[in-house]
Amino acid sequence: MRTCYAGQVSEALTGQTVTLMGWAHRRRDHGGVIFVDLRDREGLVQVVCDPDRPEMFKTAEGVRNEFCLKITGLVRARPAGTENANLVSGKVEVLCHTLEVLNPSVTPPFQLDDDNLSETTRLTHRVLDLRRPAMQKNLMLRYKVAMEVRKFLDENGFIDVETPMLTKSTPEGARDYLVPSRVHDGHFFALPQSPQLFKQLLMVAGFDRYYQITKCFRDEDLRADRQPEFTQIDIETSFLGEEEIRSMFEGMIRHVFRKTMNVELGDYPVMPYSEAMFRFGSDKPDLRVKLEFTELTDVMGTVDFKVFSTPATTKGGRVVALRVPGGGAMSRGEIDGYTEFVKIYGAKGLAWIKVNDIAKGREGLQSPIVKNLHDQALSDILSRTGAQSGDLLFFGADKAKVVNDAIGALRLKIGHSEFGKKSGLFEDRWAPLWVVDFPMFEHDEDENRWNACHHPFTSPKDGHEDLMDTDPGACVAKAYDMVLNGWELGGGSVRIHRAEVQAKVFSALNISAEDQRIKFGFLLDALQYGAPPHGGLAFGLDRLITLMTKAESIRDVIAFPKTQRAQCLLTGAPSMVDEKQLRELHIRLRNAQAAQAQQG
Ligand code: AMO
Ligand code: AMP
Repeated sequence: MRTCYAGQVSEALTGQTVTLMGWAHRRRDHGGVIFVDLRDREGLVQVVCDPDRPEMFKTAEGVRNEFCLKITGLVRARPAGTENANLVSGKVEVLCHTLEVLNPSVTPPFQLDDDNLSETTRLTHRVLDLRRPAMQKNLMLRYKVAMEVRKFLDENGFIDVETPMLTKSTPEGARDYLVPSRVHDGHFFALPQSPQLFKQLLMVAGFDRYYQITKCFRDEDLRADRQPEFTQIDIETSFLGEEEIRSMFEGMIRHVFRKTMNVELGDYPVMPYSEAMFRFGSDKPDLRVKLEFTELTDVMGTVDFKVFSTPATTKGGRVVALRVPGGGAMSRGEIDGYTEFVKIYGAKGLAWIKVNDIAKGREGLQSPIVKNLHDQALSDILSRTGAQSGDLLFFGADKAKVVNDAIGALRLKIGHSEFGKKSGLFEDRWAPLWVVDFPMFEHDEDENRWNACHHPFTSPKDGHEDLMDTDPGACVAKAYDMVLNGWELGGGSVRIHRAEVQAKVFSALNISAEDQRIKFGFLLDALQYGAPPHGGLAFGLDRLITLMTKAESIRDVIAFPKTQRAQCLLTGAPSMVDEKQLRELHIRLRNAQAAQAQQG
């Protein structure tokens, strides 16, 4: 039996004999003395192997990196000057008495302390990658957070109820992962995009307070903050209103930060969606960046510059400025770089004004566009932005969505740049926020139809029910998102608990009465049996841990993640299956050759 973890050997154990089990992190032969850094999940300790125990020493000579070892030895102080302040065990070492190789290792494909490994290498050899101290730390924090979440929810009367993985599609806005049924020819289960409908049914069933830390599956384009299978802390409660729900779960996130990181999250602003879009062009603004949009749409209609006047006078157009204090120091090259950057978001250009000397009026400005702006427009720009000498003003003019996306991204890009950090435009802190009052619907221009902004089970604000027929775009939902440092950490809503309101939302979404029955008949039926008012939300656990660990990607906090191309490099999934399996599932491949070629 081990007496303690290698990473926990400290001064307190000086003079004691310990038995440790772990891996040889590094082995150094100092001609006559061999040092082995023994590693386990708690950390490292230095083991000293002296030749005066010949049998043990001979074994030590054969030890290589990643051998699995058992050692027994005496904890003693390190000689003065050789302490390592970075380790819990940094003041001590273990003088080895016996050493047993529990299992040798072949040479690992990389050094565990190499910080420049490609992600492909790391994911292909995930087991060794997971041995790295940083990964152990990430997953340990993940565990602690999940435990604190469970404690908090348990204390507040929430019970964990499992919901099916083989189910019917829930509309969360992504493509489904489908599972063919062997028993029912041509029929498919969908893996849940979330437990949304089941948790609502549990409320109707009277469980009052539900939670689950559970996998969700969404076949969507992957980004740094998305995985095809990810974990939600999924919650639903009966009889609480919007603000009560928000306050309870703000409390949960505060609890988690306090207990696992000793961080007190400070101010938690509550911002309507419309304000977030107006000031930051985003429904998940990163409030650490101290830059804001200046609205100019209403004052650019009369300028002799079509780039500005057209969107200013067209419905759905927007013109804004982004004032960058001290940005006048940027070179033309940098400005050109930002111009290319905003094009990724559909912007056609990036007009700018350098304010060299505000006192000199027009003469003090340097810009390709001021010649096209009449005095009043120029004066509006300078006064509204509050421009000062040395500033740079950027402009976005287009459909509101393009302006919001492009200038919103530019705001982050500048805020997070070296320049932004040096100029005090970025505040290094935790910046949580609630975004509330989302619209019920968003218009899909391509398909000319309304889609649910959150999901179709979200309740409209009281008094907004009739807007669903008359002006769907103006209908506001009882929906809220929790944002942290510019990431959407969680989202939820108060739900519809009356069948007739639910049917009305389905109609607004153009779901025919027949389709409503086929897809959601079970929900509409349940709502008829005295469904309680209810609501809830779900947090992305992977995202929460990514933020807490400041990891570069969500993949660094998931033991066995998928790549950006939705593959598991460790197991090789997804892969082809036997013809026999396909036949049992009543499936014939449309392009077997292409599949074979991909399999390579
Ligand atoms: P929503 O779709 O907003 O809401 O998801 C809730 C939270 O889950 C996380 N998340 C993801 N994390 C990683 N990879 C993904 N692909 C991914 N997609 C979502 C985000 C997000 O805030 N049923 C509703 C919740 C409710 O209304 O109660 C839902 O799923 O952090
Ligand atoms: P142009 O008249 O097209 O040469 O553009 C003059 C300036 O306006 C250039 O700096 C362009 O980058 C910029 N510009 C062009 N289109 C837009 C736009 N939609 N939004 C903001 N700036 C633009």
